[in-house]
Amino acid sequence: ATDLTGRSFLRELDFTAEEFRSLVALAAELKAAKKAGTEVQRLRGRNIALIFEKTSTRTRCAFEVAAADQGASTTYLDPSGSQMGHKESAKDTARVLGRMFDGIEYRGDSQATVEELAAHAGVPVFNGLTDDWHPTQMLADVLTVVEHTAKPLERIVFAYLGDARFNMGNSYLITGALLGMDIRIVAPRAYWPAQHIVDEARRLAGRSGARITLTEEVHVGVRDADFVATDVWVSMGEPKSVWDERIAALAPYAVTSEVLAATGNPDVVFLHCLPAFHDLGTEVGRQIHESHGLTSLEVTDEVFESPHSAVFDQAENRLHTIKAVLVATLAGPADGAGVSG
Ligand code: CP
Ligand code: NVA
Repeated sequence: ATDLTGRSFLRELDFTAEEFRSLVALAAELKAAKKAGTEVQRLRGRNIALIFEKTSTRTRCAFEVAAADQGASTTYLDPSGSQMGHKESAKDTARVLGRMFDGIEYRGDSQATVEELAAHAGVPVFNGLTDDWHPTQMLADVLTVVEHTAKPLERIVFAYLGDARFNMGNSYLITGALLGMDIRIVAPRAYWPAQHIVDEARRLAGRSGARITLTEEVHVGVRDADFVATDVWVSMGEPKSVWDERIAALAPYAVTSEVLAATGNPDVVFLHCLPAFHDLGTEVGRQIHESHGLTSLEVTDEVFESPHSAVFDQAENRLHTIKAVLVATLAGPADGAGVSG
């Protein structure tokens, strides 16, 4: 069995396909056990620090509920609630928290910060999202893919539309390449992942048999897709001033009913890591409506609310997959079973 005891979870590139798949499999077991009422607590007495320098609904709640389900406690540190980055370096923070906690989650801008924490904490560090990668989201998305198809991952066609030079686009490209999928990045060239990430993806594809496509053509990119995914066009930490250029560049890449139809697949599944802008139910949505006259951006309300949409399964799977990361890295190899006994 794959032993991930003591490992950090910083980016998909640090894991083999077998290790990544083992986390998804463990998440599926933990999900089934929770639903059956047979979950066994393997993290009793463990303490986990949650550092959030950016806001979160799903990731924070998933870590807190996962830890509670497994008998561990969490301490939440919000952007104003710690000295890190203001009065204390990441290196010093890591050495302090590493003396008190068994694991540390970090969400912020910089991948270098989460790597620095991991280098000095002496305990596993988990990346809860940086500008570059969103690896815990990838576990949830792959679990959702597995649950929504009978095909093996190697036969999955997965198309991502939108801003692909940020965390979600980078993570999908690398995860798809790692797991041998037919992975398509569908975006204007300026929004494709950086060349060094594309190079890494091609290197992984050489081993896994993944097919990698980067295209500006929506119809080419989504043809035969089993899954169509997107993300917000403006990410956390980006200024409002980029809205105009984003809307101008990415409007043709919005996921509409026509885009789903263009897959030619009546069973195509829509994914979105959330939060999504698909109606006027949010403050940002109302602002965009006032300034640009639009009622949705990256996905229409019609698609979001359609039977194709698996976004709430995907959101729920954040819990089970983050729990898998905690159990795999912090529970110790005790019985190796992960769920029972
Ligand atoms: N998908 C995701 O990471 O959601 P939060 O920002 O709410 O954590
Ligand atoms: N790209 C988005 C993902 C949110 C989960 C962001 O970084 O804000």
